[in-house]
Amino acid sequence: MCGNEKNDSWDENKSGLALFFLEHPEAARALEEADNDSLNGADLACKSALCQQRGMYLEAAEMFRAAWRKCYSEEYIREFGAQLDFIAGELKSCPGPIVDIASGRGMLVEKLLEGARAPITATDLSPTVLKEHLGARFPNETESGRLTLTPCDATALPFPDSSIPALTTCLGLQNIPGPERTVRELRRVCEGRLYAMCAFFPEDDRENQEAAARLGLPGAYSQSKLQGLLERCGWRVAPHEGRPFRTMPTPVGVVVPGAGFDALPVVETTSWFTTLICE
Ligand SMILES: C[S@@+](CC[C@H](N)C(=O)[O-])C[C@H]1O[C@@H](n2cnc3c(N)ncnc32)[C@H](O)[C@@H]1O
Repeated sequence: MCGNEKNDSWDENKSGLALFFLEHPEAARALEEADNDSLNGADLACKSALCQQRGMYLEAAEMFRAAWRKCYSEEYIREFGAQLDFIAGELKSCPGPIVDIASGRGMLVEKLLEGARAPITATDLSPTVLKEHLGARFPNETESGRLTLTPCDATALPFPDSSIPALTTCLGLQNIPGPERTVRELRRVCEGRLYAMCAFFPEDDRENQEAAARLGLPGAYSQSKLQGLLERCGWRVAPHEGRPFRTMPTPVGVVVPGAGFDALPVVETTSWFTTLICE
């Protein structure tokens, strides 16, 4: 893990859920027996994790996608997709390589594989998520070298100065505690553009802004603060801003009581996606 002590949270969550199912086999059985349509998004995500644990990676990915669609509104899904399409469109003819930061399950990576022709490097602090999600879903692309999986910390990237023509991230920059170190590190390695897709809440939405701060992400969900930070670190920023929509806290598990999906927002609010185009 790039020689630092940060934990692989995906692996920890996996172990936590495995322990829960060991102690509560009835919950695992209830998930298995339930019709997927009858489960709420958080429970369906737990069912997907159960499949993942059993090595049924493709089924797990499909189930997770269904859970994701259950957790968000049509507008959220449409606006999210529009930003990913925008980034893939911008990078359609980029010779690459394109390096995606904090790739997670790879919603943006998947879009880039479809819409751009450059080789893509997916990175994440968690080797587990890269191997079990992207590696399992795109074996041909990893085999051919079109997709490289590089576990690493975004605050200490294993790339030389000014070596990456295009950097991307989808809800990555905002989810890495202490974003300034990441922003400076991205600036160091980038020789072209950074496309950072973010979700924002209004400045005066105190409850959600404070909840983000409690997660170790102060200011990350404020467009003006995050843009200001990027500019102070030497980037010129042009926002590609989507339409605002109302959004609610995501559901909590019933079959797996207390299982969450998305930590934000904590109360209903207005939100919007913006891709910060940084040079
Ligand atoms: C919301 S997910 C990203 C979603 C993803 N980009 C996509 O397109 O589906 C946030 C990711 O940030 C990763 N992460 C957190 N801290 C990190 C760090 N210091 N360096 C790299 N990745 C990190 C987490 O492991 C997680 O996979």
